[in-house]
Amino acid sequence: MNIIEIRELKKEYPLGNTIVPALRGVDLEVEEGEFMSIIGPSGSGKTTLLNVIGCIDFATAGSVTVGGREITTLSDTQVTDLRLNKIGFIFQNFNLIPVLDVFENIEFPLLLMKKSGAEARKRAEKLVEEVGLKEFAAHRPAELSGGQRQRVAIARALVTNPEIVLADEPTANLDSVTGAAILELMRRMNELEKTTFVFSTHDANVLKYARRIVKIKDGLIEKEPAAA
Ligand SMILES: Nc1ncnc2c1ncn2[C@@H]1O[C@H](COP(=O)(O)OP(=O)(O)OP(=O)(O)O)[C@@H](O)[C@H]1O
Ligand SMILES: [Mg+2]
Repeated sequence: MNIIEIRELKKEYPLGNTIVPALRGVDLEVEEGEFMSIIGPSGSGKTTLLNVIGCIDFATAGSVTVGGREITTLSDTQVTDLRLNKIGFIFQNFNLIPVLDVFENIEFPLLLMKKSGAEARKRAEKLVEEVGLKEFAAHRPAELSGGQRQRVAIARALVTNPEIVLADEPTANLDSVTGAAILELMRRMNELEKTTFVFSTHDANVLKYARRIVKIKDGLIEKEPAAA
């Protein structure tokens, strides 16, 4: 089953009197349980594509179906629900909440989902442990290294047990050792929970981990070679 289906997706940004065509007719299918990477030069449309899949931004034209639901047919509330319940998003700059500690940052989406306190605590504790931050649970983001912050962002994206995790350059700010550990963690989640992962990267080390690589250039996906 395709968990993501994109047809003829166009995204244009108005810029002064002109428009910037960030995506110019993208077709993409992602099967449930895939672990795939989108690569392409700076400005090719990677972030735009992930943002549209993650309902952070919306298409100018074309169709985007996530988890069997065509996004343009959904109401605002349904989009919010989809984003909260089915999608985990790992932002390149982490977007952690500075006044909350590690544990609270990870638990936060569960409170938005109105999970009971006990259930939220239990699940957040599990994730804190899985990303190896137990001793740092009471630290605030400012007291963490880049790799530790990235692990918080990953735990927060995974805590709701989303069907899809979208990660924009998940290792961009990390040294190669930390980056490899993050990728191992993501791959374990993919194997354990069958979570679908779509991430963008420039990093050749990341590409080694991907089971499928999709190239994007000037807002268009290059045709994939037929599977061997
Ligand atoms: N909010 C915006 N307003 C105007 N143009 C934008 C906006 N966001 C992105 N763009 C343009 O859309 C194109 C695609 O940008 P995008 O951020 O998706 O590229 P990218 O592949 O993620 O690049 P990078 O590797 O540098 O992160 C670029 O030409 C960019 O300038
Ligand atoms: Mg980008």
